[in-house]
Amino acid sequence: MENVFIFDHPLIQHKITLMRDKNTPTKEFRELVSEVSRLMAYEVTRDLPLVEVEVETPIATAKAKVIAGKNLAIVPILRAGLGMVDGMLDLIPMARVGHIGLYRDPETLDAVEYYCKLPEDAAERDIILLDPMLATGVSAVDAVNQLRKRNIHSIKFMCIIAAPEGIKNLHDTHPDVPIFCAALDKKLNDQAYIVPGLGDAGDRLFGTK
Ligand code: URA
Repeated sequence: MENVFIFDHPLIQHKITLMRDKNTPTKEFRELVSEVSRLMAYEVTRDLPLVEVEVETPIATAKAKVIAGKNLAIVPILRAGLGMVDGMLDLIPMARVGHIGLYRDPETLDAVEYYCKLPEDAAERDIILLDPMLATGVSAVDAVNQLRKRNIHSIKFMCIIAAPEGIKNLHDTHPDVPIFCAALDKKLNDQAYIVPGLGDAGDRLFGTK
């Protein structure tokens, strides 16, 4: 599918297998989410524009490249998206961080927004939305809607595990938003969990269950 990118690097696959294991404890799970996010950040930023500068090496003057003051912001969808922030900031420390709070209504499975705080100049920034699990896609679609409402148009979506249903929903609603994931799983179950997935990413990150 156009605009969907799966990062299946062996290091990422290995770490996702450890994350899936139900016996992986909270501390290790949190570290793995951070490490996978860091590895994904490397690929997600592949298209950052560069400009040429001159630099004096000890030997000569060189024409070399630096990232063109492109303004980035990462926006985790609360709460599981928080687990991806540190890994991203390790590679792109200049990025600003916004937050969108959505929860899934357990009855209707709809996304309900309860918080949104973005950098003041978010509309001029390239935004990377973060949520480790793209399940039904309802939260992702809603988060993109919230950003669009605020005049933000350069948006990428980055998750760790995606279900085909979520990819289809997000892609059909916002075909111009590239989707980056590290694993594409089989399906959703009747409670909208990804199968085989890794369970509830928020609970596993924060030890709430
Ligand atoms: N959110 C999760 O944390 N896990 C899933 O499997 C689906 C949504």
